[in-house]
Amino acid sequence: MTEQKATNVHWHQGDITGEDRNNLLGQKGATLWFTGLSGSGKSTIAVALEKALFQRGKLTYRLDGDNVRLGINKNLGFSAQDRAENIRRIGEIAKLFVDAGVIALSSFISPYQVDRQLVRELHAESGYPFVEIFVDCSLSTAEERDPKGLYKKARAGEIKNFTGIDDPYEAPQSPEIHLHTDQMSLEEEVETIIDYLQNQGFIATPQP
Ligand code: ADX
Repeated sequence: MTEQKATNVHWHQGDITGEDRNNLLGQKGATLWFTGLSGSGKSTIAVALEKALFQRGKLTYRLDGDNVRLGINKNLGFSAQDRAENIRRIGEIAKLFVDAGVIALSSFISPYQVDRQLVRELHAESGYPFVEIFVDCSLSTAEERDPKGLYKKARAGEIKNFTGIDDPYEAPQSPEIHLHTDQMSLEEEVETIIDYLQNQGFIATPQP
């Protein structure tokens, strides 16, 4: 657990609650946490899901590994310690979005079970929904896809601590949703998540 450095600080409660904001938006804020190897399809699914939800009038916001590492987390690398801090900060940012009533789509490799568990607990403490989505794909398929050419560089020793090559990926034990991106189509994946969100009451099921 990260140390609380500042003392004499207290949470300030406003008059409008998270529930008020959920009612305003006609949805329930939640974090959808995509985890998986680089090249497994996390960002692709998040982009397609965002579009599908937008068409249903639902407000989302995507938090994406590369984007966040170019901004708020530009001072972090890929050591286990830096990855932990990366995930902790994203977890806190995702919580703010959930409090705002937004469906946060977080796509990070997040290779360590303990880091993902921490984000889950951060949400649970505040009563915020957290949905872990395992974007599962074999290393060989991810490496074949190699959309950014990074596996090639990692195999050549030009990138160190690359997840799946010389750094571990710990698969989730009981994710809420498990997608096999080497066997399913993008449409099926998006539909699986939308069905889950409807069944759990995060978004309404359209009336026939
Ligand atoms: S995480 O492990 O801390 O969750 P994150 O999702 O933010 O990782 O960033 C992963 C992205 O950074 C990859 O998609 C890839 O584009 C890039 N990257 C650069 N170096 C590495 C590395 N050593 N391991 C994994 N990803 C890397």
